[in-house]
Amino acid sequence: MLAEARSIAVLTGAGVSAESGVPTFRGAAGLWRQFRPEDLATPEAFARDPKLCWEWYDWRRGLIANVLPNPGHAALAKLECTLITQNVDGLHQSAGSKNVIEVHGSIWLLRCTECGRAWQDFSPSLEIPPHCDCGGLARPGVVWFGENLNPKVWAAAERAVRTCDVLLVAGTSAVVYPAAGLVPLARSAGATIIEINLEATALSHSVDFAFTGASGVILPQLVDR
Ligand code: OAD
Repeated sequence: MLAEARSIAVLTGAGVSAESGVPTFRGAAGLWRQFRPEDLATPEAFARDPKLCWEWYDWRRGLIANVLPNPGHAALAKLECTLITQNVDGLHQSAGSKNVIEVHGSIWLLRCTECGRAWQDFSPSLEIPPHCDCGGLARPGVVWFGENLNPKVWAAAERAVRTCDVLLVAGTSAVVYPAAGLVPLARSAGATIIEINLEATALSHSVDFAFTGASGVILPQLVDR
């Protein structure tokens, strides 16, 4: 089906970066077991304590700066596809993927809360909290709980899944909306859905094929064949 597909879309989540050493959000070793999202990943949390919020993002930046893409990222970089990711780590781009839609933004992006300017900064450690040239406080260029996704970015993701023949869904628990809604959208538009995950998810019963295993093992096998 992959070989014959005219258009392939991919939706990835934190599980795809797990084999690189980036912690996932849910599950036994997930970030949301150690930290409360409402303390760190909401607009209210940032307004309450920007320094605390930035310390957490800066810790994650440092962690991600020290890891490399894994064979799952490399396999997807070889596949001609539109790659929609919920990950903010930039590892798909580091692996060479070109057509990447970051629906939850990027941890390497900063945005001024005063003038709205956005810029990239790849340094593993920032002066906390960072400021814009205009003097305004900068925020991480990621999407927080309770925030809307960027409408243009979301429209591109919807377009990709509406028009694909095959949607690969890898390393996501598929519980965070609207991203998880891309899967039923693809399905209703007639796409074949192939899931790759270490375990069964809320989606597994409704997909065409569910491969159980590590994305760093299964994605290279699928793409190579
Ligand atoms: P989760 O942490 O919710 O889910 C990770 C999924 O990856 C789980 O289903 C695991 O079983 C699976 N997994 C772990 N290791 C794997 C491996 N090596 N190979 C294949 N699968 C593996 O992460 P996401 O689904 O990405 O949002 O979470 C969605 C969103 O929730 C994130 O983008 C983030 C988070 O809160 C925001 O911060 C807005």
